[in-house]
Amino acid sequence: MIKICFICLGNICRSPMAEFMMKNTLSKMGLENEYRITSRGTSLEEYGHDLYPPAKEKLEEMHIPYEKHFANKVSMQDYLENDLFLCMDENNIQSMKRLFPKDSGKIVKFLERDVADPWYTGDFSRTYQDLEEGIQNWIDNLQTKRNK
Ligand code: 4NP
Repeated sequence: MIKICFICLGNICRSPMAEFMMKNTLSKMGLENEYRITSRGTSLEEYGHDLYPPAKEKLEEMHIPYEKHFANKVSMQDYLENDLFLCMDENNIQSMKRLFPKDSGKIVKFLERDVADPWYTGDFSRTYQDLEEGIQNWIDNLQTKRNK
């Protein structure tokens, strides 16, 4: 099983959206038992909060199922339990490397560019598109590696 944790700053917009979108895509592909998908933030800013309402609205519009969420900061236990930390932007990468300075290569950027941050842009559609592109790329690449 491949264990993937999506990372953003607050864990109420980008990373939980990515978590629910990837779970949905994997389940449509019949791959839900091959992966374990979670999400965390690099800060405690939004600790305990549910998905930000406009993020829920976007998921509903796109017919992506989601569950009650509890925003949390990434811990050492999370670090040890996961294979990959897919980070939404360059700031997340820097924060993760400060938190886990001995990283063995698990901390990587989700897309080459930064995912559009809806906290500042207010544009959840653009974020959704970025997430969709990255998720498809990651599943294709991970499945190709596993099938080799
Ligand atoms: P997220 O969005 O990192 O995608 O969950 C944000 C949530 C909260 C803040 C910034 C971004 N904040 O500054 O509190």
